[in-house]
Amino acid sequence: MDNFPQTLTSKLTDLETPVLVLDRDRMDQNIQKMRSNLARFSVNFRPHVKTNKSIDVVKNMLGDTSGAITVSTLKEAEYFSAHGFKDILYAVGIIPSKFDHVIRVRQAGTKLIVVLDSLEIAQALGDKAKQARTSFDVMIEIDCDGHRSGVDPESASLIEIGKALVAGGQNLIGVMTHAGNSYNCRSIDAIKKMAMQERDAAVRCANRLRDAGIACPTVSVGSTPTAMLADNLDGVTEVRAGVFVFEDLVMAGLGVCGAEDIALSVLTTVIGHQKEKGWIITDAGWMAMSRDRGTSKQPVDQGYGLVCDLNGELLSDVLVVDANQEHGVIAHRSGDPAKTPDLPIGTMLRILPNHACATSAQHAQYHVVHRDSFDILAVWARFRGW
Ligand SMILES: Cc1ncc(COP(=O)(O)O)c(C=O)c1O
Repeated sequence: MDNFPQTLTSKLTDLETPVLVLDRDRMDQNIQKMRSNLARFSVNFRPHVKTNKSIDVVKNMLGDTSGAITVSTLKEAEYFSAHGFKDILYAVGIIPSKFDHVIRVRQAGTKLIVVLDSLEIAQALGDKAKQARTSFDVMIEIDCDGHRSGVDPESASLIEIGKALVAGGQNLIGVMTHAGNSYNCRSIDAIKKMAMQERDAAVRCANRLRDAGIACPTVSVGSTPTAMLADNLDGVTEVRAGVFVFEDLVMAGLGVCGAEDIALSVLTTVIGHQKEKGWIITDAGWMAMSRDRGTSKQPVDQGYGLVCDLNGELLSDVLVVDANQEHGVIAHRSGDPAKTPDLPIGTMLRILPNHACATSAQHAQYHVVHRDSFDILAVWARFRGW
């Protein structure tokens, strides 16, 4: 059994910790910010739902299930298809062992788009389509920044893959790219340049395919930093972004949001002290926070998370400096024990995460509250696994 969901108690203060808390007002504000930002351009929004893995969060983002979404696993595709989504991009390279799973999801009436970046897979998909008497919706993945997968925008293989897909009877939806290196940028200007690089690569590939006589209707780009800071999306038809919905300390470190925008936190309780060391021990270790130390590569390392009081207000320069499986160690950034706040055993705190996708993945549900309120509005389930 995945977990024993806590019964719906009325207040955060009634909960057994650690648990995941979602500030609905901050989330709604983040959604609004992304939407009004993208409204400057003529693009569709295809949010990445891997961050939240929750139909309740996605319905808040899109209103209903008629829109397009991006997923990172076929289980996500299945789940969101079962909840009514009909236009889903599975944005992790497809492999033959998953073709049957894709067909099963498509049989439910969902347009499930797969991505690939090699002739080998394009041909294998063609063989499968012939054998199963079907066709697939496909996007070619482009490597815009050397981050991970994708074809080089100038490579001959782009056209070879496009031709193989068309010859095999597949529906070539277009090209997609993800500027994952935007997470390593060190200035707003660098993110803006990365956004341009992401756009240029995707549009260049779409035009190369078109010049070769291959239709390429969709040009899909996106990461939260580039989606928030792009100045020009000419030629782009859709934008994907995921972590923006909650935001996190990595995004705050990049300057994409402020720590006060982060909607997700882990509620924890003080279980002890090592006063001479200036440590406060809590029940939120890395199982509750995740092992993600994304801010360790940034100019300001936030440890395993920044500490807020129960209201979600940041304590000045207090962070989770270390984490064992079920123990968190909180201290002042300076390491000076005299500066560690006096927080008796039983004090409840909220920890802002480095990486919202990773921290939420440690939990089975969101306890939803309004900003500055302990009242629990709802408990939203999220799912795990593949
Ligand atoms: C293919 C793809 N598209 C979009 C995104 C969304 O990026 P972010 O979470 O920065 O918004 C991701 C994130 O990993 C991704 O892998």
